[in-house]
Amino acid sequence: MGKVYVFDHPLIQHKLTFIRDKETGTKEFRELVDEVATLMAFEITRDLPLEDIDVETPVSNAKAKTLAGKKLGIVPILRAGLGMVDGILKLIPAAKVGHVGLYRDPETLKPIEYYVKLPSDVEERDFILVDPMLATGGSAVEAINSLKKRGAVSIKFMCLVACPEGVDAIKEAHPDVDIFIAALDEKLNEKGYIVPGLGDAGDRLYGTK
Ligand code: PRP
Ligand code: URA
Repeated sequence: MGKVYVFDHPLIQHKLTFIRDKETGTKEFRELVDEVATLMAFEITRDLPLEDIDVETPVSNAKAKTLAGKKLGIVPILRAGLGMVDGILKLIPAAKVGHVGLYRDPETLKPIEYYVKLPSDVEERDFILVDPMLATGGSAVEAINSLKKRGAVSIKFMCLVACPEGVDAIKEAHPDVDIFIAALDEKLNEKGYIVPGLGDAGDRLYGTK
């Protein structure tokens, strides 16, 4: 069964509070999402495998660590996931970036896919799928389906705010996928918004309504 990790680092929690605040404007919201994405990327890459290489320092020869293992791929779920990409790339700039475009039908809340583009070597990469919100879980489950259908075998899901309904949906549909979140909120409301949440992440990132 996939594991759920809640990042309780004080900096992440502090910044998330201002992301939630409805008085936070677009510019600051965008900057904070970017910063939290960087901090989360630091935590999520904690278990990347290392190998020893030889290095010559100004003083002597040494064995030192370098990253080993599979290459990484970042996949934002459009559109709100885009707001987290640059923050992650600050730490892992060589990662390739795929895109999955989905939106929730406002009536049914079911995801509708409109775009998919992934790196060509899908099987050889460890993917981090990113979206600020995990609400019903429909979008994340569909995006993971989409990645797996194209050959992805290693996927982590990372989001800012989740609720139990969304976590359960991923666990049930994709028990091999670990979930990394900054906060696990109480519930979904009747309109499919996370409570207390932060509102519509895409609209707040891009100033639309
Ligand atoms: C939001 C959010 C997730 C989805 C989560 O996107 O960014 O992708 O809703 O909801 P779910 O877990 O119930 O599927 P939205 O559909 O509003 O599209 P946008 O990113 O284009 O604003
Ligand atoms: N999508 C959002 O952007 N916010 C929510 O609370 C739920 C889905």
